[in-house]
Amino acid sequence: MKTMAKRTAILLTLLLLMLSASLVINHAPSVASGQAFQQSGLDERTGKTPAQSGAQPWMAVLVDVGEPNVREGQFCGASLIAPQWILTAAHCVEDQSPTSVDVVVGRYQLTSDQGERIGAKRIIPHPGYVNEQDGQANDIALIELNRPTAAGRPISLIDAANAAADDPGVLARIAGWGRVPEKGLDVTDKLYSVDVPVVPQQACQVAHDGDIQADELCAGLPQGGADSCEGDSGGPLFVPAAGGKAVQIGITSWGGDGCGLPQSYGVYTRLTEYEHWIKTQIDGTNADSAPTVRPTSPSPSDSASIDPAETALPAGYSLIDAQNDQGERVAYFETRDGDYVDVSVFDADYSSLAEWMAEEGDEAIGQITQARDVPVLIEDGSDRHGAFWYATFVVDGQLIFIDGVLSYDELLAAVISLIN
Ligand code: ARG
Repeated sequence: MKTMAKRTAILLTLLLLMLSASLVINHAPSVASGQAFQQSGLDERTGKTPAQSGAQPWMAVLVDVGEPNVREGQFCGASLIAPQWILTAAHCVEDQSPTSVDVVVGRYQLTSDQGERIGAKRIIPHPGYVNEQDGQANDIALIELNRPTAAGRPISLIDAANAAADDPGVLARIAGWGRVPEKGLDVTDKLYSVDVPVVPQQACQVAHDGDIQADELCAGLPQGGADSCEGDSGGPLFVPAAGGKAVQIGITSWGGDGCGLPQSYGVYTRLTEYEHWIKTQIDGTNADSAPTVRPTSPSPSDSASIDPAETALPAGYSLIDAQNDQGERVAYFETRDGDYVDVSVFDADYSSLAEWMAEEGDEAIGQITQARDVPVLIEDGSDRHGAFWYATFVVDGQLIFIDGVLSYDELLAAVISLIN
């Protein structure tokens, strides 16, 4: 077992390294010599930026019951519309049952333990839901929670009093943890959002070859650059201040071949069409009963956890998870602006790692490189959105994982200095 001092020293080295890596990434993107990867594919730009923490208290996220780590288990967005009711897209819950879905409410950063994670009592897809293969219609579903939640605050839905909230030209907003292609991210840890104007139905018909139904509405810019993306589905399209309060007008449903492309708007389920259906489902129950306030039980702390107070962080970085995540991860960092330069340190017996690495290496997604006699698994995660590299290795019995460094050379330099 390592001493805390030594672990802290490793972490400090990691952090300094990350700081320098991020400076390079931010100011002087380097070209990886001898490594072919595609030029940063900035053809897709959603314009999403980190949302203001707490500003969207109705945001919810759907998570696989079997995955304790919310960031890893999340698969769709959703919104809290009453203390015990969640609104989402039917395509998000098509293959789900109440025993397979948890809902997390009141959380901004998925790796934090803010808010509440609650099971589903019932999932109610719209009876007229038709999936994408068959033409997509009525992409809306309700989830009744096992109990009312006191985390978060419900959002109002568009109704007669706010009838103009989805008129073409209204500046609406989407929020979610889905892809931000221009940052190379798959799904994000923090909630992201972007403003998107509601588009006239006719313009959207033209952009989507006449596929837009009356129960759908489109939002975005003709030139692209403002859009939801994969993973945002089920989340709300809302007007931040319609008559002084936020009003949800749509549910993220689908888009063209990419995200934020020109002449290809995001498509949302049009909530005005479902006011009656939603009311009928909810009114049959105690939806308006006062939320039960339950103290969130403190997460079990583990002796192997790093004390955040003991870890001095360079400016611009924050420790966002110092728990023993699934008994293994003991620290996890990201830059203040959400840059995807993660370093995770795991505390576990990884004696079989070399074997595991060799297997991974065989899959051709990674290669084992010796760096100062330490085997390092290097994986190329580059895709059409840009270059991405991962390294996994063990130093002094701790597994270190460096995630999402944007150039191969940078990654290798990081690994070598950590092994020292
Ligand atoms: N269907 C996607 C999801 O499941 C949402 C896609 C939104 N795409 C877009 N270009 N607006 O997450």
